[in-house]
Amino acid sequence: MFKRLPGDEARNLVSTTPDTAVVFRPAVVKTPAILTIVILTGRMLVRLVRTIWRHPIAAIVPAALGSLWYFYGWPLAASLSGTVVLALISWAFLDRSSFARLVGYRLLAWWRLIWIYRRHWQPVMIVSGLGRHLRGRDYLPRLGKVTCTSWADVVTVRMLKGQAVKDWADRTDHLAQGFGAKSCRVAPSHAGRLTLTFPRSDPLASPLPALAIPEEPTVGPVEIGKGEDGRPWRLKVHGTHVLVAGATGAGKGSIIWSVIRSLLPAASAGLVELWALDPKLMELSYGRGLFGTRYAATPEECADLLDEAVCVMQKRAARFAGLQRSHTPTLGDPFVLVVVDEVAFLTAYQSDRQLRQRISAALATLTTQGRAVGVGVLAALQDPRKEVMNIRNLFPDKIALRLDESEQVDMVLGDGARDRGALADHISPVPEIGAGVGYVRLETSPEPARVRAAYVSDADICAMVDSFAPHGGAA
Ligand SMILES: Nc1ncnc2c1ncn2[C@@H]1O[C@H](COP(=O)(O)OP(=O)(O)OP(=O)(O)O)[C@@H](O)[C@H]1O
Ligand SMILES: [Mg+2]
Repeated sequence: MFKRLPGDEARNLVSTTPDTAVVFRPAVVKTPAILTIVILTGRMLVRLVRTIWRHPIAAIVPAALGSLWYFYGWPLAASLSGTVVLALISWAFLDRSSFARLVGYRLLAWWRLIWIYRRHWQPVMIVSGLGRHLRGRDYLPRLGKVTCTSWADVVTVRMLKGQAVKDWADRTDHLAQGFGAKSCRVAPSHAGRLTLTFPRSDPLASPLPALAIPEEPTVGPVEIGKGEDGRPWRLKVHGTHVLVAGATGAGKGSIIWSVIRSLLPAASAGLVELWALDPKLMELSYGRGLFGTRYAATPEECADLLDEAVCVMQKRAARFAGLQRSHTPTLGDPFVLVVVDEVAFLTAYQSDRQLRQRISAALATLTTQGRAVGVGVLAALQDPRKEVMNIRNLFPDKIALRLDESEQVDMVLGDGARDRGALADHISPVPEIGAGVGYVRLETSPEPARVRAAYVSDADICAMVDSFAPHGGAA
């Protein structure tokens, strides 16, 4: 790409005869004017055809109006365009969402392409180091399509040959600042292309109230909040193990309680058993009535309860061996969800070594063997470092809520998650804005998705206990 041009060598020449000036005369090739005109006209035609091909509607509308004006005079063209504008305004008032989807976001995308991205593309690329200005020529990544969603601009880009996604991921701050966005996320699409997402607003900035308890018993992926795209956030709990990591006050409780809330009908139908370990005594104790005898708070009780879960698991495995390879919840063999708040209290911070080893061994056994026989673990912890939680990789699904350090993001979500936009360390510590907000990797996409869990308040938990506690009564 960066070829040496003729004449580049001139500045390296050394004259051996100091008195004789070395004179270079550029070779002048005279191009006939007609050839230049033909080439320029050809280029213009190609661009025109390409524009019409890419934006057929934007091309047809002015062409149709122009023809009307030409053939039938301006009053007809003006009244027709007035009618169309009025119709569009009425549509926008009557059905905002369909108008936005079919017209509004397209117009916005077109405007932002021209006014924001195309206008600033060259300087942002050069200053951020993603493009090169070399010997008077710009070598820039190619700006592709801009699509607008309700909350973000999605920009496709063709990288320069030889560039890596990491080059872009390292410059998300430059890109966000350059295009006037709060943040930028990078996701590779197909060969040599990537997608940049620039949020325009934060759809998860206000707390979500607790979701309605499902009417039908379900152990399928349970709805516990919503995603940035406005779709429900469904978390799979049966057939996996989930680890929730978040600093103090990050909202781990809202995930735990939202999961419990959506499993309550299944629990009262006998298809799910909720076992609770609450070493900090501050979270699950509030809804203690929901767990009956399967509630433990002291480390000894927790170790016993975990051993009991291992026992259930092993008995099931012995019965299922050779007969079935996956678990379907039934009244005889319900799905057992072991919920552990602040799991590090039981593992890393437990001073009794024997107890610590017993608990760690039970947790490791459950997380390695429990999935197929219908025993799942939902654990929450503050510090995801290996020294604190050495079995974190045994949890197939992980959720990163607000974290204190940027390095912790990849510890939870896997290598490169932060580079791809999982900025869990940037989530606001203000509870109304950031509690319950986190990043997950969904099955459908390797890209981390930003989500917010619904907030289950103390009053909601009391109501849940009143309606669903096996033996009645509040906590
Ligand atoms: N989803 C949510 N939406 C809005 N606010 C929330 C949400 N979850 C929690 N909060 C607020 O944040 C506060 C802290 O939440 P929570 O106790 O769940 O945090 P935590 O991560 O469990 O913290 P800790 O590790 O200290 O126990 C709550 O008291 C509540 O006011
Ligand atoms: Mg908590």
